[in-house]
Amino acid sequence: MTDCLRSLLRPVFSLPAATALLALALSAGAVAQTVPASATPATSVATASTAATVPVSSMSSRVLACTACHGKEGRATPDGYFPRIAGKPAGYLANQLLNFRDGRRSYPQMGYLIEHLTDDYLREMAEHFAALDLPYPPPPAPQAPAAALEQGRQLVQQGDAARRIPACVACHGAAMTGVAPSIPGLLGLPRDYLNSQLGAWKTGQRRAHVPDCMADIARQLTPDDVSAVSAWLAAQPVAAGGKPARTLPAAMPARCGGVAEVPVAAAAAR
Ligand code: HEC
Ligand code: HEC
Repeated sequence: MTDCLRSLLRPVFSLPAATALLALALSAGAVAQTVPASATPATSVATASTAATVPVSSMSSRVLACTACHGKEGRATPDGYFPRIAGKPAGYLANQLLNFRDGRRSYPQMGYLIEHLTDDYLREMAEHFAALDLPYPPPPAPQAPAAALEQGRQLVQQGDAARRIPACVACHGAAMTGVAPSIPGLLGLPRDYLNSQLGAWKTGQRRAHVPDCMADIARQLTPDDVSAVSAWLAAQPVAAGGKPARTLPAAMPARCGGVAEVPVAAAAAR
């Protein structure tokens, strides 16, 4: 029970000094990028000196703020709570940054860093992390009894039609590596993070654009289903490359806001 509660609670980290500094670094980058040449002289001086130390093109130095929590190069750690962001579909990452900035998701220590950044800047950061091609570490050993893992596997691969739960792979792809540009993969994520996200969708703490297909699906899952699915997913290795797919074998079982209809692969091209 405490385990279950703990996994639904979001960890709170105290990094005020570090995040304040990093927020400054980020906004300096944003200024260097967005202040027009016609700005007042005082601003131009500040901008010029910032631009000299933080070149506009140097996205990797600006996103050091992010790697403080998301791990070196956005790769995260397999046993922590922080999600990996490297190599995820760009449209998905951009949607999430907009969600955090605009309050559809909440993690104050991170929201604070991006609250004043423009849509364009957030999309650029999303593109930066999406383009990183880094290997995934092997998954941790399964942390649930065999029966729970089997329940998780079935839900992910087949769903449960009687309870109107579609197979997760019907949208997240057969290899569960997601589908470009807006559907994330489900592998390489910590079990606590998965539990927390599904729990947050059930309670309305995490929202996506309407129609919020994941909220509908999460509400169909019992707490047992959620821990089974999270335990199974967190223990699966990522197939070589781990790249998001481009097509799905069949049409998505539901519409999802902020996600364009994914093309269906012709049988021969699969
Ligand atoms: C203080 C720690 C911290 C910092 C700094 C931080 N993040 Fe996060 N980030 C998190 C946590 C924790 C989550 C998951 C929050 C949740 O929904 O429970 C998250 C979630 C995300 C997600 C969503 C991932 C997914 O799979 O849905 C993205 C994208 C992201 N962060 C990008 C960034 C970027 C870009 C920066 C730098 C501007 C950044 N983060 C800085 C802690 C941090
Ligand atoms: C109808 C399509 C669809 C189905 C079926 C589906 N998902 Fe999703 N899922 C999505 C979309 C779209 C997103 C991205 C939502 C957003 O933009 O926030 C998502 C996001 C997620 C995330 C967040 C990942 C992250 O990095 O934060 C998790 C976890 C997840 N889904 C789990 C599941 C599980 C488990 C199932 C099966 C029980 C499932 N999904 C079935 C479309 C689907």
